[in-house]
Amino acid sequence: VWKYINQLKEEGYVIESSSKKGYKLASIPDILNKREVISYIKTEFLGKEIYYFDTIDSTNNYAKKIAEDGCEEGTVVISDCQIAGKGRRGREWASLAGKGIYMSVVLKPLLEPSQMQLITLAASVAVAEALKEQTGMDLGIKWPNDIILDARKLCGILTEMTCETDKINYVILGLGVNVNQDMEDFPADLRDKAVSLKAGCKQLTGENKTFNRAKIIASILLHIEKYYKMLQSGLNEEIIDKWRLHSITLGKQIMCSDSRGSYLCIAEDITEDGHLVVKCEDGSVRELLSGEVSIKGVMGYI
Ligand code: BTN
Repeated sequence: VWKYINQLKEEGYVIESSSKKGYKLASIPDILNKREVISYIKTEFLGKEIYYFDTIDSTNNYAKKIAEDGCEEGTVVISDCQIAGKGRRGREWASLAGKGIYMSVVLKPLLEPSQMQLITLAASVAVAEALKEQTGMDLGIKWPNDIILDARKLCGILTEMTCETDKINYVILGLGVNVNQDMEDFPADLRDKAVSLKAGCKQLTGENKTFNRAKIIASILLHIEKYYKMLQSGLNEEIIDKWRLHSITLGKQIMCSDSRGSYLCIAEDITEDGHLVVKCEDGSVRELLSGEVSIKGVMGYI
């Protein structure tokens, strides 16, 4: 037994021993490995196959590679750290070891390429609900799919797709969640834009708390599976309604930047296929499919 106990101690578990009673797990620290994630998983097919790495370039890149090789739908790639984490619009995603969740899910939806935006919106609802359930914190979704806590970014989603004219071959859903970073862990230029569950919790409640990444991953996968099944059953309107419920964008004044330049407008609604409906200052109404939007709030634009 002691050999096994020593191995667990080396992995970071705190184990108390007593000559009469034996061994007791004193606390469950935030240890991320395949065994920990599997111990919390309750899904039917998401995460039945998990690839876990201590370090990788990007989980999305690895997921793409195994999807090309024909891996099962629902295969999940997780890494404790990324050395070339990718964000949207060619940006980097800060992926420090031991602190965040860097995970990619391979999906093979029976949907048309034009419905790709819906997959991303459904994923953002799933992540928001999982994080709310796990932490009780007041999170919101900024269009299209950023999860925001206290006016700063907590989670980003990068969806990559390979398709033919009318058929999606596979989708890689890449999720980056800031979990146990202290504010100093973020690069200096991100400190007013990014937040983690730990830093947000400390600033908002004064509580010094570390969150269990394996448990959060399992909860996120469960919620993604639920919304993915709804999507496959054509329950698009229900998904959009849930998105509206969590949205912090609708009804707000926003600054849009696209090929036309930057302009102010009001975010009025979201269409059934996930486009943002905005009313501009000259009274014209536009539909945005993508592009950069920032919301005007008490903290300036987020
Ligand atoms: C964004 O810019 O908002 C999207 C960030 C997505 C980051 C995640 S981390 C796991 C996966 N692998 C990557 O290289 N990127 C995504």
